[in-house]
Amino acid sequence: MNPKKILLIIGGGIAAYKTLELIRRAQDRGFEISVVMTGAAQHFVTPLSVSTLAKGRLYSDLFDRQEDMDVGHIRLSRQADIVVVAPATADLMAKMSHGLADDLASATLLANDKPVLLAPGMNPNMWEHPATRRNRAQLAEDGVQFVGPMAGEMAEANEAGTGRMAEPDEILEAVQAILGVPKAGPLSGKHVLITAGPTHEPIDPVRYIANRSSGKQGYAIARAAQAAGAKVTLVSGPVDIAAPDGVKLVSVQTARQMKQAVIEALPADIAIMCAAVADWRATHEADRKQKKDGSGKPAALELTENPDILAYVAQQSDPRPALVIGFAAETDNLIDNATSKRLRKGCDWLVANDVSQEGVMGGDHNAVHLIRDSGIEAWPQAGKQAVAERLMSEIIQHFQ
Ligand code: C5P
Repeated sequence: MNPKKILLIIGGGIAAYKTLELIRRAQDRGFEISVVMTGAAQHFVTPLSVSTLAKGRLYSDLFDRQEDMDVGHIRLSRQADIVVVAPATADLMAKMSHGLADDLASATLLANDKPVLLAPGMNPNMWEHPATRRNRAQLAEDGVQFVGPMAGEMAEANEAGTGRMAEPDEILEAVQAILGVPKAGPLSGKHVLITAGPTHEPIDPVRYIANRSSGKQGYAIARAAQAAGAKVTLVSGPVDIAAPDGVKLVSVQTARQMKQAVIEALPADIAIMCAAVADWRATHEADRKQKKDGSGKPAALELTENPDILAYVAQQSDPRPALVIGFAAETDNLIDNATSKRLRKGCDWLVANDVSQEGVMGGDHNAVHLIRDSGIEAWPQAGKQAVAERLMSEIIQHFQ
């Protein structure tokens, strides 16, 4: 994979010393980093230190005419995935909010079309000054994102308040969240493929066949997998909830689209199929609304079975995910039905839930059984996020 590229703009504030650490830590996390220093920044840290850590990728003068530096302010941000300003001083923020461009840093920011993250660092009085407040409101409206500043001790003796620049790791966490880079965690490097929500199988332009499914459990699992550091692809039918940050969402309507999206997302290390896929679809989708014909006889609806996505992934995908987990919503004979379903579908684990219980369908709670070769566990009723996290810790243990 190509490394993600950060363009770091170092402003002239005492917190500039922390950017040396920021450069190192960014590289530790696999980022490639280039740096622009303002003139003022060079009073706080030396260009030599920065250039050494940034492996020579340091730029500081708008009128630098090195061969490949023509139109540098435009090229620099084009090559980056994100621009980080640290410390973002009151002066730089004022320039940005007014679109000034009289040095390389401000010209680069004006020519930039990539996400911008500011890590403000300044004296608390400057941060709270009405002019800075106006500028930060304007910048937020322009789509600029902020990390910090934090409350606490300032470099100036006896000064406290909000103005301390966020720590390098906090800044990098924010960068990773914006870029959707998976966090480091026990599932780092693993691809988790999740299906969630219902499918809608059109009968005509206004009617469809669907199962009742809110998508909450699947989305909670996506969140838990993402928090464990996995790369997550969430193939989802129509639901009303937003995908967690950093998760790759593929939205589909029908079972056949869901199967195609799953095939395109493979290979995966772990497949968790939570979607409530409609078992049947209308054999012929009418292109106009079907009307009552006055005879009192209902229109015949011919159905065709949908592909079983879970069975396909478990039995036919190549390479098969190392762990394939299915779900079974049952209203009766939960354990018997779910146990035979696990074998029939060929999945490794099956999470069975009793949807006849009040509040499970569409609700925030779930009571499940985890069915594996090694036996059956009954989990106490818990929130869907808690169920997702427990399932994720079982998965993590499985891979240890
Ligand atoms: O057969 P049943 O619908 O009860 O099976 C439930 C499990 O199979 C779930 O994991 C569901 O996501 C999956 N499934 C599927 N494709 C279908 C039907 C169910 O992936 N067509």
